[in-house]
Amino acid sequence: MKTVRTIAELRSGLDAARRAGARIGFVPTMGFFHEGHLSLMRRARNECDVVVVSLFVNPTQFNDPSDLAAYPRDERRDAARAEGVGVDCLFAPNEAEMYPPATATAVVVSGVSEPLEGVSRGPGHFRGVATVVAKLFNIVQPGVAYFGQKDAQQALVIRRMARDLDFPLLVEVCPTVREPDGLAMSSRNVRLSADARQQALALKRGLDAATAAVAAGERDRDRVERRGRDAMAALGVEPEYFAVLSAAGLTPVNPLAGEILVAVAAHIGGVRLIDNAIVAVTAS
Ligand code: PAF
Repeated sequence: MKTVRTIAELRSGLDAARRAGARIGFVPTMGFFHEGHLSLMRRARNECDVVVVSLFVNPTQFNDPSDLAAYPRDERRDAARAEGVGVDCLFAPNEAEMYPPATATAVVVSGVSEPLEGVSRGPGHFRGVATVVAKLFNIVQPGVAYFGQKDAQQALVIRRMARDLDFPLLVEVCPTVREPDGLAMSSRNVRLSADARQQALALKRGLDAATAAVAAGERDRDRVERRGRDAMAALGVEPEYFAVLSAAGLTPVNPLAGEILVAVAAHIGGVRLIDNAIVAVTAS
């Protein structure tokens, strides 16, 4: 596996493969790889001729400077893990390479970027995500890009951006990978103390309670949300949000029908975690 740091080097490195018609798979990341990242890389390896992974902790998507400063980083370990699952190229640019002085352009995806994380982290968050992903798509020019379902809203924002800006690629969204006790894998989990690690199970408990309520026939959105919140309260956690919305457009839906997204965010011991579940609501 090759690590490259400049756009020019990446482009020239992919030239021959592109000319030969190779299918290029791309996994954008902010590093500190866990099984969730590795599952995306393995899928790309299975489906593509060339696999490129980017590692860039994108400052423009952080609304909280202390969160950016605390974001875990270990490029050497990441490179070894990526190589272990067969990645061909790790693109690890620095900030000046991605945002040269006087950079003035940003990508804004309205609608799906506005609720949930758009409220909690502010409009700058998804503007930062959409802008850096659009840049990365232009730099790598993949045939397929892989994202995780844990960031469900991010996946929707990126799909919409790719469609609206006519990026000629497929966006694949892959299942959330969980610890044996159900906690969704996240680079942030390493910052949880032992007590906070236990409390973090509240997110999955809340999602399970909400989805069980729907499975039992509950179709009232507020009551489903309350079931989720109550399950979290039993572990002493109050969510930043616990919301049930349409899975396709993140719009309010009541009574519940079609595909719904149950999404949760919570601060646990100073670490912000998110998780979600998609539920197909059948007519009852
Ligand atoms: O999901 C992430 O790690 C980031 O938001 C992404 C997509 C790599 C953009 O910086």
